[in-house]
Amino acid sequence: MQEKILVTGGAGFVGSCFVQRWIEKHNVALVNFDALTYAGHLASIGSAAKSSRYTFIHADIRSAKDVEQAIGEHRPSMILHLAAETHVDRSIENPGEFITTNVLGTSILLQATLQYWKALPESDQADFRFLHVSTDEVYGPIADNILATEGDAYAPTSPYAASKAAADHIARSYYRTYDLPVIIAHPTNNYGPRQFPEKLIPHFIFKLLRGEELPLYGDGMQERDWLFVEDHCEALEKILFAGIPGESYHLGSQQLRTNLEVSRQICKQIDFEQSIISPRTRPSEEHITFVKDRPGHDHRYGLDCKKMEQALGWQSTTSFEQGITTTVKWYLNNPQWMESVCHSYEGRRIGLL
Ligand code: NAD
Ligand code: TYD
Repeated sequence: MQEKILVTGGAGFVGSCFVQRWIEKHNVALVNFDALTYAGHLASIGSAAKSSRYTFIHADIRSAKDVEQAIGEHRPSMILHLAAETHVDRSIENPGEFITTNVLGTSILLQATLQYWKALPESDQADFRFLHVSTDEVYGPIADNILATEGDAYAPTSPYAASKAAADHIARSYYRTYDLPVIIAHPTNNYGPRQFPEKLIPHFIFKLLRGEELPLYGDGMQERDWLFVEDHCEALEKILFAGIPGESYHLGSQQLRTNLEVSRQICKQIDFEQSIISPRTRPSEEHITFVKDRPGHDHRYGLDCKKMEQALGWQSTTSFEQGITTTVKWYLNNPQWMESVCHSYEGRRIGLL
């Protein structure tokens, strides 16, 4: 069977990074299946879209017809499933969208994949991989000084996390019941270039560039593990080539920071970059404003990532400070991306009851 990867959600933040790296590094065709929601933008694919190994399909994972057609026509040897609704605040505002895309969409994709996979010759069946990308949020809040390990019980709290957890259970059931070679990855909070500016890091860069206040939820002491997107995509490549079906893998940087620390690092970097042009009249840190907390806000996420290191030799390599420098520079140098992606985004607070 000819090698070909089908990526869902390849026009999103993680997906576009994965697509660009893949086209540059691997001599294997890639099909990008994406509905182009508010979070998906072809501008993010850049020159990789010109490659003869790249195909784009504008379609929705909630449509069995679209999914069956794409799989039947392109006959992938592996599927990377990234497409999802991904923002917690939006899931508080409109949970239905998260259930249809993340739960129903994933089950439609799994069912179409199963039908296709069952008809493959045995050797192709053995080589096939379905890599489902989950999140660290399925474990719910993790107590101080503890990290979640693969196999720990799920305890999701937000509608986003619950929808991802449901999708994981369905994906795992296809491995247990039908032997479909499913693998599950659990990345921590990603950041880097081309992330839609609703998530903390690009949101605060977006706000500072507009001279607005930075709304820090609650006391800002919540902790996240911040994973640079390139490191994440490198890990996904390793899993696709060497991961074991039925297994799940944690992907994190093991660099936990409070939201206040993250905000200060962004402010420091913005002030440094902008001082080259002209000094700010008001230091960015003075824009940090404590606002009403997110409903059901999880205090801390943290993953033990030793399995990925021991089994597949992967560790994240980007320090948080280096990653923030790269990210801030990228947003400052790419205002045209921000304009094309954010024309209808105002950055107003959502997800309050
Ligand atoms: P994103 O929101 O930036 O992009 C999602 C992409 O999926 C977009 O291109 C969108 O158009 C597409 N999409 C949405 N609904 C679709 C549908 N019904 N049919 C087809 N395409 C659809 O997301 P991201 O940050 O790139 O995240 C990718 C995956 O990684 C998601 O599954 C997410 O849950 C997971 N993840 C992300 C992070 C993070 O911090 N970004 C952390 C952990 C896990
Ligand atoms: P977010 O980027 O939405 O990711 P997640 O909720 O999936 O971890 O938020 C990261 C953290 O930042 C989370 O604790 C909520 C907080 N936050 C703020 O304090 N202010 C904001 O404006 C946003 C978007 C997030």
